[in-house]
Amino acid sequence: MQLIDGNFISQQIKEELTAAVAERGNKGLKIPHLAAVLVGENGASLTYVNSKVKTCEQVGFRSTLVQLPVEVTQEELINQIRGLNQDADIDGYIIQLPLPAHIDEKAVLMQVDPNKDVDGFHPECIGKMALGMDTFLPATPAGIIELIKRYNIETSGKKCVVIGRSHIVGMPMGLLMQRNDYPGNATVTTLHSKSTQIKEVCQDADILIVALGKPGFVTGDMVKEGAVVIDVGITRVADESKKSGFRIAGDVDFASVSPKCSWITPVPGGVGPMTIASLLMNTMKSAQRKDTVS
Ligand code: GUN
Repeated sequence: MQLIDGNFISQQIKEELTAAVAERGNKGLKIPHLAAVLVGENGASLTYVNSKVKTCEQVGFRSTLVQLPVEVTQEELINQIRGLNQDADIDGYIIQLPLPAHIDEKAVLMQVDPNKDVDGFHPECIGKMALGMDTFLPATPAGIIELIKRYNIETSGKKCVVIGRSHIVGMPMGLLMQRNDYPGNATVTTLHSKSTQIKEVCQDADILIVALGKPGFVTGDMVKEGAVVIDVGITRVADESKKSGFRIAGDVDFASVSPKCSWITPVPGGVGPMTIASLLMNTMKSAQRKDTVS
């Protein structure tokens, strides 16, 4: 078993971005600027957004955090989004999800300018991704694609099983793994809450991508010898032995699964750090797009 080290690869990407930002500065090109919109004070969301802003600083990007109270109206939120769409200095921005229940998430995400949608959630981005056109790929699936590339993992002709069909991970991941590209060209099966024979289907997978948000869901008896296992789970589980009172648990039972794998992502330190790295890569791409336009 070999580890797919997301900490190492994300660090490598951050160094590449730092060098690219410095080069842009030397050439008088625009410094990439990412904004994040956070509604309310959900602990996990606050941690993610702060981490996104901090990573921007590390690589030399500009960053803006727009923090709105939990009771903000949908109209006020959409007004903020219009402001970000019009702000020429902002290359890309994200609306941290989930949004409070009184806000219609789909209606809000529709307002994001697809040219600034570095999360790749807008229907135009998803449509372009499905058609293999140039666009921003959603950050977590893009991060997984990057890991597969940088570890030279073969995907062509492989049986890939994706557990979960969320719009953020499972659905785009399935599309990317079956596209005619590298990584891609896999035979993809999606499993979800209404699927049957989950264990048997998983046992046949050469590549198993697990994104359902249930700690320890995949156990050793569900995994084929030599499989590649990508664990997207990042659930906070109460743990009194930790100062924070919780630990981060993956969807894969690492102890029983890892001995059977050729490659596996740990949690933490696997897919997690890649999400921010790909968000920053998307923001760089957005800034670079403007170089040729202006
Ligand atoms: N919440 C959970 N994952 C994500 C993500 O990738 N982007 C945003 N904006 N919110 C999230």
